[in-house]
Amino acid sequence: MWNYLDSKEHNVENTIHKDFSPIALDHAQHPRHIGPLSEFAGCAHIKGPCGDTMVFWLAVRDHTIEKATFVTDGCGTSRACGSMATCLAEGKRVEEAMAVCQDDILKALGNMPKDGEHCALLAANTLKAACENYLSQGKARV
Ligand code: FES
Repeated sequence: MWNYLDSKEHNVENTIHKDFSPIALDHAQHPRHIGPLSEFAGCAHIKGPCGDTMVFWLAVRDHTIEKATFVTDGCGTSRACGSMATCLAEGKRVEEAMAVCQDDILKALGNMPKDGEHCALLAANTLKAACENYLSQGKARV
């Protein structure tokens, strides 16, 4: 399994700058829900066009996301976006979490550098793929 600790984490500080809102800065520097889940109902691993990778894990109970975690080897922006995506997913029913989009993540984070907006798309796409992975395993309990 790919190890995020061997990733480009050391570059994170270099990618954070004045265009980050205080919320985005906090999520970039102190990402929530980082690291794999040992037991999970859904998982997805996507490499974005920029070459960075994001992985999401979901723990689901009663068709509701109890826990969402992630890792990325991307920049500070991708850490902020992955972190916010996990926060937006938790407590939602799987179909609601699948509908979390790039714009939802960007709005929740506040200001983000324009050139980092694709990181929110990668986070939204990976969350959606993890939800689809859960559903494809026939573990849906409506
Ligand atoms: Fe690659 Fe943000 S720069 S995901």
